[in-house]
Amino acid sequence: MKFNIAIVGATGMVGRQFIKILEERNFPINNLYLYASKKSAGKKINFRNNDFTIIELTEQNIQCEKIDIALFSAGGDVSKKYAPIFAETGAVVIDNSSAWRMDPDVPLVVPEVNPEDIKMHNGIIANPNCSTIQAVVALKPLHDKYGIKRIVYSTYQAVSGAGMSGYNDLLEGYKGQPPRKFPYPIAGNVIPHIDIFMDNGYTKEEMKMINETRKILHCEDLKITATTVRVPVYYGHSESINIELSSSFELCDVFNLYKSSKGIVLMDDTSNLVYPMPVIAAGKDDVFVGRIRKDFSLENGLNIWVVADNIRKGAALNAVQIAELLIANYL
Ligand code: A2P
Repeated sequence: MKFNIAIVGATGMVGRQFIKILEERNFPINNLYLYASKKSAGKKINFRNNDFTIIELTEQNIQCEKIDIALFSAGGDVSKKYAPIFAETGAVVIDNSSAWRMDPDVPLVVPEVNPEDIKMHNGIIANPNCSTIQAVVALKPLHDKYGIKRIVYSTYQAVSGAGMSGYNDLLEGYKGQPPRKFPYPIAGNVIPHIDIFMDNGYTKEEMKMINETRKILHCEDLKITATTVRVPVYYGHSESINIELSSSFELCDVFNLYKSSKGIVLMDDTSNLVYPMPVIAAGKDDVFVGRIRKDFSLENGLNIWVVADNIRKGAALNAVQIAELLIANYL
């Protein structure tokens, strides 16, 4: 069986990756519709050796032909307006923006973690924030085996997480150009500020990590704090995750857990300088975990270092895996 697929935001950082991943994974596609803004309408994008013309996203231009799955990555405002319109036509929207993630009627899904949540969708499924996806993939085996009491996230996030304009700020910044996307130069710098500041002093990115982790792990009361930071890296988010587990553990068991967990590559051999880094994770599908060690400052404390490609597992790949889950079980 083949499906009609739409991509909204097809010219963007994640949109282009949707196309690449659908091609790589040989996704069963009947017709493909590529949408972007008026600026890109008429441009061509190649898919499986055919040129597809970008369609301007307007209500009138949403195809009359039934679209089965629409992959969205064109920002929150576009998702707010157009996801319900696509869903109304019978499509299932998989949305990469933050517009619908915390809506109680919208499942927030990472296939390795909470695939069963997909069942309760009403036409929209949300793809979590990039930093949250890789974190929960690494946390889930610990949560299942030991229980988690508290999490401290510290992130080191790549510029591609801010889209093409974020990527260009780093590229052009190294040539001496002033920033256009970020409030300060990112070349040679570290900016402790991702997304807007909230009244509580946290950034929206930090609150996304906190709230989305709770929703995905089904732990509304889980204690979590986060500091999210932009670093001069093109692809690959890194995260230091400090965890207080509910029960005691042996480090060797944690290593074994990660050796056998789906979607995870264990890279922890410090005597040979083996640990995950963005240059290793970029372009790969897995979540890389290393630097596993006890936090001696508290009972049942554990530190891990988690790296993944923020555009692949952190965005486009996770969305395509949700689509695969959908067609295998529910469409
Ligand atoms: P366009 O390239 O035509 O502006 P990124 O996250 O890399 O910045 O990409 C954002 C994506 O969202 C692009 O494909 C962009 O298209 C698309 N986009 C932005 N605004 C709109 C809009 N109002 N309608 C449709 N697509 C939009």
